[in-house]
Amino acid sequence: MDRIIYLDNASTSKVNPEVLESFNQITLKYFANPSSIHRLGQESNRLLEKSREQILSLLNLNHHEVIFTSGATEANNLAIKGYALANRNRGNHLITSATEHPSVLNTFKQLEKNGFEITILPVNEKGVVEVNSLRDAVKENTILVSIMSVNNEIGAINPIKEIGEYLKKYPKIAFHVDMTQAIGKVDIPLENVNMFSFAGHKIHGLLGSGALIKEKKIILEAQNSGGGQENNLRSGTNTVALSASLAKVLRLAVDHQIENYQKVSELRDYLVSYLKDNDDKYILNSLDKNNPYIVNFSLKNKKASVLVEALSNRGIMVSSLSACHSKNEDYSYVVYALNHDMCLAHNTVRVSFSYDNTLEEVKEFIKELESIMKEIKQ
Ligand SMILES: Cc1ncc(COP(=O)(O)O)c(C=O)c1O
Repeated sequence: MDRIIYLDNASTSKVNPEVLESFNQITLKYFANPSSIHRLGQESNRLLEKSREQILSLLNLNHHEVIFTSGATEANNLAIKGYALANRNRGNHLITSATEHPSVLNTFKQLEKNGFEITILPVNEKGVVEVNSLRDAVKENTILVSIMSVNNEIGAINPIKEIGEYLKKYPKIAFHVDMTQAIGKVDIPLENVNMFSFAGHKIHGLLGSGALIKEKKIILEAQNSGGGQENNLRSGTNTVALSASLAKVLRLAVDHQIENYQKVSELRDYLVSYLKDNDDKYILNSLDKNNPYIVNFSLKNKKASVLVEALSNRGIMVSSLSACHSKNEDYSYVVYALNHDMCLAHNTVRVSFSYDNTLEEVKEFIKELESIMKEIKQ
């Protein structure tokens, strides 16, 4: 089978050839270790620092620093553990939400085992954290709130601006945002956010590239010890080509954000209207019209895993659950958190778009979906 329709871009996206090309060129030219004091090392270092500056100026950030990481998991771990451990003397209570990515939730659980007190906020029926529930959870000893901007399974957008504004009156509390599914796609005001994480591979960059961006005043404890690279926060020889390619792909995503958003909105609207017209078979779990990139739905009477496999056999890639944990768990804790229905949570399908998908692909997907749904048993 030659045809591939890739609708799993929230898991990872195909690298942009232009970005890969510049990665290759930089790898060959700037191979010297940026910590070396010789000329070649210093040239690598200049490019590394330029990449950092480009990212900050692209995002209009003035009091921040960029810590390059291997992706969003590492950035989330560094932000949460790094902040909790460095600021333990100020309090030991941490707040997150029920639908965070495992790289946040499991980090919180690890900290809980190590003596921190954690609160996991519920979400409403749209999968959104309500500021009121945060209000009730904040305590005297709270030092960190970590809330994702866009959920990776259903695409729900959290009220980051309102949460940030509310937290302004608690200077002791740092606000971290997992921006992995939002950056370059959905506009999220970051004025009152102290740190945020993202990865290149969700926006057609390279796997293995990512960053934590934090205000300079935020103190973290490094999570790996070594030569003190990345301002003592992430030891290990810097991968200059990955850092430069992250800056490049972020620029491309931000420069084209509006046109890409409009293009993807057309795809989403088409699919969602089909799903709504067939509500005897499907329940839409992605209720936020403001994020066209992720459309999640549950099958009412059929097994999602069977559907996803059959689609894959016909060259169409979508995901059931999130690729990050679909091997270990057989239900979506995110969909469960919104409707508390285990049957629907077991049978979720996620279609995630990219700017390079077309309406023809969506029509083809729907055609195959209809045909498979007729074939598979209840
Ligand atoms: C919201 C969110 N956070 C974090 C991650 C982890 O990213 P990475 O694979 O770059 O470690 C993902 C990946 O799916 C994600 O969607």
